[in-house]
Amino acid sequence: MANSTEGTARIAVTGLATMGSNLARNLARHGFKVAVHNRSFARTKSLIEQHGHEGEFVPAETAAELVASLQKPRQVIIMVKAGGPTDAVIDELADLMEPGDMIIDGGNAHFADTRRREAALKERGLHFVGAGISGGEEGALNGPSIMPGGSPESYKHLGPVLESIAANVDGQACCVHVGPDGAGHFVKMVHNGIEYADMQLIAESYDLLRRAGGLAPAQIADVFRTWNSGDLESYLVEITAEVLGHVDAETGKPFVDVVTDQAEQKGTGRWTVQEALELGIPVTGIAEAVFARSLSARTDQRSALQDGGVNPVDVPDTLVDDVRAALYASKVVAYAQGFDQIRAASETYSWDIDLGAMATIWRGGCIIRAVFLNRIREAYEKSPDLPSLLVDEYFRSAVEQAVEAWRRVVVTAVQAGVPVPGFASALAYYDALRSERLPAALVQGLRDFFGAHTYTRVDKQGTFHTLWGADRSEIDA
Ligand code: 6PG
Repeated sequence: MANSTEGTARIAVTGLATMGSNLARNLARHGFKVAVHNRSFARTKSLIEQHGHEGEFVPAETAAELVASLQKPRQVIIMVKAGGPTDAVIDELADLMEPGDMIIDGGNAHFADTRRREAALKERGLHFVGAGISGGEEGALNGPSIMPGGSPESYKHLGPVLESIAANVDGQACCVHVGPDGAGHFVKMVHNGIEYADMQLIAESYDLLRRAGGLAPAQIADVFRTWNSGDLESYLVEITAEVLGHVDAETGKPFVDVVTDQAEQKGTGRWTVQEALELGIPVTGIAEAVFARSLSARTDQRSALQDGGVNPVDVPDTLVDDVRAALYASKVVAYAQGFDQIRAASETYSWDIDLGAMATIWRGGCIIRAVFLNRIREAYEKSPDLPSLLVDEYFRSAVEQAVEAWRRVVVTAVQAGVPVPGFASALAYYDALRSERLPAALVQGLRDFFGAHTYTRVDKQGTFHTLWGADRSEIDA
């Protein structure tokens, strides 16, 4: 690096795999002078060779050069593998930085790691910002949805840069300061959990239309294309039509028939469920999606039981419309659960997250971008303390209108023997919330019977225990 570039770059990116390179290019294209660095310099060189003309880049061979190239306060975005590699890069950078400088982790880190790193760097006077970045390679280049955590002070410096490279919907950037320390990565994690649930519901729709409804993948692609012009309009529905319509060049078969039916996962969906269990928030849609992926990979068990059969069943003429309604209603449940989880974490960690703002920044750039996020945003803008999205007037009536079709879909699937854990569990969740009395009262009775775990009563204050093994009289516990 020539000395003339010292102290001139506005921001830096280290870790130049596709996401990192694309983010650096996005920054450069928006007029920011970007310092770039990678563990192997060859990748840095190739970025400059291929895309150097897109803006002002400062290639750095070492972390020390990278840090020296920056204006103060320095801002370095790290785009490396979550876990150990992230810690190693943070340690190296932190030793080269000064109080007031910022390290931004743009990977899918676990929010607890982000909290730990933020606390450690704060002691050294450095800002650590865990920023969720969604939108895949395309989003990183052309405008992702960005969910930064960290201190409000760091956002003052970083916000304008991130907002200018983020996606933009109706003049609003898909980037906002989510909250302190790990809030950004937590919200990104739940985003991914919802992504899992959404994809599972889409997959169940396809499976049912194909195996019970007898439609071919190309026909189902058309169905999704049509759905994408209604209230289901979303990136995932749009690309479902693309994937289902794709034909394998080698075999001439539908692409979906030549792909192994074992879904993989990098872990953010699992983390979402693990954290939901800790917080006591039922995210059944996300959990079913994670388990459905795990089940798909249990090839030993599957091959031992496989009989290929679908039971003959009277499929309602309305199947396609019914599935559309079930997909919409189940999706509302999945989002309602995800937003509940964010609210619960926000209370637990004192993050003060604005749920409406999360819906706003998910409208563009990210994988779960969807037109109906406008409705979610409106719902939380109207009532920030909404107990559940399902209570909002618009969603309540939308789900009520869908519920008959939704039940028909679950019944048809169950009779046909096509698994729809996402649809069925979403419906069960909805029905549970609607129920005046839940059988949890019996569970309480059983707990008290075998373990004297006590119970409360509907008609008076206090905690009670019944002497089950004696005269069954009730005592104050
Ligand atoms: C995004 C995606 C991105 C990644 C997922 C895939 O928001 O851009 O969510 O983060 O594609 O992590 O996750 P799985 O490999 O676990 O399906």
